[in-house]
Amino acid sequence: MFDGASNFADSVDTAFLIVLVISVFFLVLITAMMIFFVIKYNRKRNPVAKNIHGSIPLEITWTVIPTLLTLVMFWYGWTGYKEMVNIPEDAMKIDVTAQMWKWTFKYANGVETDTLFVPANTPVEVFLHSRDVSHAFFVPAFRVKKDVIPGRTNKAWFIAKPGSYDLACAEYCGLNHSGMYTRVVAIPIAEFNILLENKLKISGGK
Ligand code: CUA
Repeated sequence: MFDGASNFADSVDTAFLIVLVISVFFLVLITAMMIFFVIKYNRKRNPVAKNIHGSIPLEITWTVIPTLLTLVMFWYGWTGYKEMVNIPEDAMKIDVTAQMWKWTFKYANGVETDTLFVPANTPVEVFLHSRDVSHAFFVPAFRVKKDVIPGRTNKAWFIAKPGSYDLACAEYCGLNHSGMYTRVVAIPIAEFNILLENKLKISGGK
């Protein structure tokens, strides 16, 4: 919808748009009604205060409608969240290490890079570790954001469309937090395998 580059982009964008539309609708409605009532019930027109009693139909309306709308927002959030936490078993596993202030990515063959290379159109699972303080793994184009916390391993997954995207740290982690940027590069799986083999040779087969 907004040029997302992963399997989660559409569901996250849909949930965002629904919440946005509902919020804007009520912002306009409530503001308009407030202005209307300020004019209608101003002191000049109503010099003597009147006691107004409640209205059961109104009470029911403004309880039932917001409850339903909240459930709709919950439904989109919940289904999207479930998709994000159900990681496919066959996903390619990559270790991600965050530290002040850089990212390191380690692949199954032991190769390490500071740019995250992933095979496009393939489920990829990232295991998030921190060497020091709390960071957050954030790829805006994928709509994926997950805390990276020392002492525990959080996981996230995605299926990337081919391309190169920003990868940011989204948790304030000290002086150079804002510089803790790198790229995610999604390439066809054959190219990805060749790249890893070449890097393995360069690193001397470590
Ligand atoms: Cu790492 Cu902010």
